[in-house]
Amino acid sequence: MSDKEQIDLNRIPQHVAIIMDGNGRWAKQRGQERSYGHRAGAETVHAIAEEAARLGIKFLTLYTFSTENWNRPTNEVTAIMNLLIDSIEEETFMNNNISFRIVGDINKLPKDLQKRLYDCIEHTSSNTGMCLVLALSYSSRWEITDAARKIAIEISKGELSPEEIDCKCISAHLATNFMPDPDLLIRTGGEIRLSNYLLWQCAYSELYFCETFWPDFKEEELQKAIYDYQKRERRFGKTSEQVS
Ligand code: FPP
Repeated sequence: MSDKEQIDLNRIPQHVAIIMDGNGRWAKQRGQERSYGHRAGAETVHAIAEEAARLGIKFLTLYTFSTENWNRPTNEVTAIMNLLIDSIEEETFMNNNISFRIVGDINKLPKDLQKRLYDCIEHTSSNTGMCLVLALSYSSRWEITDAARKIAIEISKGELSPEEIDCKCISAHLATNFMPDPDLLIRTGGEIRLSNYLLWQCAYSELYFCETFWPDFKEEELQKAIYDYQKRERRFGKTSEQVS
């Protein structure tokens, strides 16, 4: 039986987060510029978003551009920004009932890209299926620092007291406060690290690492990751007897 046939559709992870790594190496293997890999990666984004929506995933969060990625060579940064403008396709979202959202330090993005993103958010906002979230100019340290600043401002205005700060309060001040914590975090491209992605939210996420470069990450690979996830026992710090 294929992984897809073995997947239990009643236990699909609600939120899948992906670190899309390996575009550059994929392009290099083909003797091409890195931007060639990013273009191929954008096609994978659409294919995986469609498959995730078909499987019933509610939130798909893609690490698209980190705060650290601004330090890449200018030509690569420009190529990624232009690619985003060209490849955010409302058609895929509308055809699949997908609503589109973004998280990150969005003001840093080029103005024309910001407009494209906000237009897409608006046009897809009444779609009721999966929510596709792009993390753009995002990092956990940026997000947590931003949340700390917001909390400090509320305290200084007397709107919040220090005693009220708990995990729920911090989560509520994060940019990702509209989504549940990821059930499954996938990283493609062979590296075994989290690279400043959803560190607060992944406290109890299941982690899945695979060698496949992002442009080669096809629907079957997503199905494989979900089937692997479904074989795990999530204990959230409890004992096996407690959760079974
Ligand atoms: C990481 O691979 C990838 C990125 C920093 C860019 C990701 C962007 C896309 C996949 C395009 C997004 C398009 C849409 C429609 C959302 P890398 O460049 O670090 O690869 P390497 O580790 O092999 O060098």
